[in-house]
Amino acid sequence: MSVVIRPIEAKDKEQWLNLWTGPLGYIEFYKSLDKITPEISETTFARFLDPKEPVYALVAVDPHTDKIIGFANYLTHRNTWTINDALYLNDLFVSETSRLHGVGRKLIEAVYDEADRLKCEKCYWSTQFENHRAQLLYTKVGVKSGFLLYRRPNKFE
Ligand SMILES: CC(C)(COP(=O)(O)OP(=O)(O)OC[C@H]1O[C@@H](n2cnc3c(N)ncnc32)[C@H](O)[C@@H]1OP(=O)(O)O)[C@@H](O)C(=O)NCCC(=O)NCCS
Repeated sequence: MSVVIRPIEAKDKEQWLNLWTGPLGYIEFYKSLDKITPEISETTFARFLDPKEPVYALVAVDPHTDKIIGFANYLTHRNTWTINDALYLNDLFVSETSRLHGVGRKLIEAVYDEADRLKCEKCYWSTQFENHRAQLLYTKVGVKSGFLLYRRPNKFE
């Protein structure tokens, strides 16, 4: 499947929001529509476009329809083990009808290119134990870190 991966732009807002909090979108996949208020979505999108914010997004575009069919949202942060920042891939999503055509793989490869561009030695992400579908892709493009992720109880994930 031919797909174009490019940085998100202001004109993408409606389509990104639809894949983010719309029906069959990413936040619904995580059963978290009650947690993501419109204000959070607005702020997150605004940060993608703000060069002062270390928050970024790539979109996958179907060149035949010009529709956005997936996204990768990521951020960079300081790391005590390296001089340069680390890149955390926060969200990865491909719309249901476009899956299993290599779009997720292309988004991750583009995030690796971004890690190089932003001089991030470490590039990492997490997934749920039960997300076997995602792990089928991750074992092909990445390596398991061997770390478990913990968090403070009763706080926003
Ligand atoms: C996870 C997700 C991004 C994968 O996107 P995708 O475009 O379907 O993935 P790709 O087609 O690029 O890669 C799939 C790879 O894994 C394998 N794979 C994925 N799902 C598979 C399945 N159900 N059966 C067999 N193989 C599978 C494919 O063989 C392919 O390998 P290849 O590149 O060597 O051919 C997508 O399923 C998704 O958005 N899911 C819902 C949200 C989600 O789980 N996000 C990740 C959160 S951590």
